[in-house]
Amino acid sequence: MKHLLALILLFAAVPAALAQSKYTGDTGIPLDAPYVPTAMPVVKAMLDMANVGPADIVYDLGSGDGRLVIAAAQHHNAKKAVGIDIDPVRIKESNENAKAAGVAGRALFLEEDLFRSNFSEATVVTMYLLPEMITRLRPALQTLTPGSRIVTHTFTMGDWQADAFKHVGERTVYLWVVPAKIAGTWRFTLGADTYAVDLTQNFQKIAGTLRVSGKEAALSNAVLSGDSFVFEAEGLAFEGHVLGDAITAKVTRAGQTFDVTATR
Ligand SMILES: C[S@@+](CC[C@H](N)C(=O)[O-])C[C@H]1O[C@@H](n2cnc3c(N)ncnc32)[C@H](O)[C@@H]1O
Repeated sequence: MKHLLALILLFAAVPAALAQSKYTGDTGIPLDAPYVPTAMPVVKAMLDMANVGPADIVYDLGSGDGRLVIAAAQHHNAKKAVGIDIDPVRIKESNENAKAAGVAGRALFLEEDLFRSNFSEATVVTMYLLPEMITRLRPALQTLTPGSRIVTHTFTMGDWQADAFKHVGERTVYLWVVPAKIAGTWRFTLGADTYAVDLTQNFQKIAGTLRVSGKEAALSNAVLSGDSFVFEAEGLAFEGHVLGDAITAKVTRAGQTFDVTATR
């Protein structure tokens, strides 16, 4: 009886799920976004903007006919390029296209729901997806290795402002560099002085104060890009990298530059 009830519930749920999806693929598979290919000049602009090179692992989430993935392997020599698409027709097309382009060994296509896929190894993520999908993906995108690049076609990441954008004809492509997590109080010593830097962070935007010898000064020209940052305060120019709970930096004071490590 219990089993019968479970089966009835299961079959009742399937048409409801299908009805909820606004878009379907060629075989009727429900999609979260329709298949609309990115024009090749826009593909080129996206990969150029992300500065894709031989060290990169590129993922296109919702990869369509594989054009971004194939171009990343073919024209940018990406170490690995992966396309994820839920539609088996697109995956078949992509594999054929990769073979024709001679990059079948370096362009990999996975028939998966992108919301269940693991793209944490990506150093570059490309997307031409609807805004609500990008919003849903944002927490996972924020956990990519700092310095990883994300490029979108047309749609943005809401209040996570793009680092750069470019118009390509009527279209716009956007770039984000995944920022390191740098908020907190960092302490370091320089000569006889002990400094504390209080940093706040809103995505890639940073601000804060420097405290030394009972004085406090706001940071100026503070910029974070990936794991690299700079700021100035109280006659110091700070240029550093953050790795977890450690900062290594070059600090210039009164014309002299020192190697400094700071901890949080
Ligand atoms: C707008 S097209 C973009 C295609 C390709 N990235 C391009 O720019 O040419 C969106 C793609 O996302 C795929 N898609 C939609 N929902 C998906 C999901 N939940 N998981 C994986 N792929 C999905 C569709 O099949 C379609 O190929």
